[in-house]
Amino acid sequence: MSETYPLLITCPKGLSSWLRAEVEALGLPVRRELPLGVETQGGLEEAMRLNLWLRTGHRVLLELRHFHAPDASLLHARAVKLPWEEWIPEDGYVTVSAAVNNRGREHSGHAALKIKDAVVDRIRKKTGQRPDSGPDQRGASVFLYWQGDSATLYLDTSGEPLARRGYKLQPHKAPLQETLAAGIVMAAGHKRGLFVNPMCGSGSLGCEAALMSLNRAPGLLRERFAFMGLKTYDPGAFQRLCAEARAAEHDSPGGRIVLTDHDPAAVAAARANAERAGLAPFLEFAVCDFRETEVPEATEEQPGCVILNPEYGMRLGEEDVLGEVYSAIGDFFKQRCSGYTGGVFTGNPILAKRVGLKTRRRIPFFNAKIECRLLLYELYQGSRKGE
Ligand SMILES: C[S@@+](CC[C@H](N)C(=O)[O-])C[C@H]1O[C@@H](n2cnc3c(N)ncnc32)[C@H](O)[C@@H]1O
Repeated sequence: MSETYPLLITCPKGLSSWLRAEVEALGLPVRRELPLGVETQGGLEEAMRLNLWLRTGHRVLLELRHFHAPDASLLHARAVKLPWEEWIPEDGYVTVSAAVNNRGREHSGHAALKIKDAVVDRIRKKTGQRPDSGPDQRGASVFLYWQGDSATLYLDTSGEPLARRGYKLQPHKAPLQETLAAGIVMAAGHKRGLFVNPMCGSGSLGCEAALMSLNRAPGLLRERFAFMGLKTYDPGAFQRLCAEARAAEHDSPGGRIVLTDHDPAAVAAARANAERAGLAPFLEFAVCDFRETEVPEATEEQPGCVILNPEYGMRLGEEDVLGEVYSAIGDFFKQRCSGYTGGVFTGNPILAKRVGLKTRRRIPFFNAKIECRLLLYELYQGSRKGE
């Protein structure tokens, strides 16, 4: 499969500009930036590299065919013409999923079944054998996007979303998805140096910051990608990409990474997740109130970034208590974090005001369906509240 195809990389809402920057940094052209992804171009080699390196992408989809499909029988008739036997092993396994939009009562399960039948019928006709199929993501993966009368078929080269890096088995309370945590760290401008994350919860921000500071490809943590179930998969080529990625890693994150939380169970979860990610030697943990967090001194040579993701207070009465917490975050920034870039990630604009410092930027994100902001502060010596 050395030909090139349009590659659609999907991402959670609000992350496409960070995904675009990542794709461009990998040397691939971005043809289009969409609300839920970016489009580029490439073959299986590029798809493998994207799966290995992307921090904010969800799935890398290789576009096979775009066609007119006003009804389900035409969907099958068109899909059966594709040379599935070239991509999917007849003795392999395939998972088909679908997203259906503006198609009245047509639902995605039925559409996926039509495509699964087409794939299996075609392979059986050409080879006399058929692959197994099911929802398990343990082989190849096919994705249908059916919008109105227009259908697009993709080979999904990721399978399980890339957000599932494989390190977070202990989610604790309200964890950030890894892709979102990576986007927040990027938006704060952190590359290397000191990183402090009070209120760390399950440690997503600290782990993603450590992966970035070490220039470690997050895909190295995963055991499986759907491209491994394709007939054209070349394990040697993927091993070469992994070896290149390992060679590009730094020995250290270039500064201390400090994670704290007042809940011992949160710190235990963060520590277990970091261990699973192989990041524990680079992270320091403490159980304490955020105000007591040790903040190493930042210098021009070693800049610092401090990010907090406090609760948003969605239930009645919580806002009053949390108002005090947000105001104390402002004091903590002002008194303890000079020389740092400060960040507060929150879905509550009223509480955000209680921080009381002048924001440098307010960057929009979505945490699932909740519209959030990353508020960034430049914490110079002597930043004053209310400036
Ligand atoms: C929204 S969660 C953070 C989730 C985290 N970003 C993650 O991805 O798992 C907020 C965390 O702040 C912690 N927390 C709340 N108040 C605190 C305080 N005063 N001092 C330290 N930690 C606090 C909670 O225990 C909780 O783990």
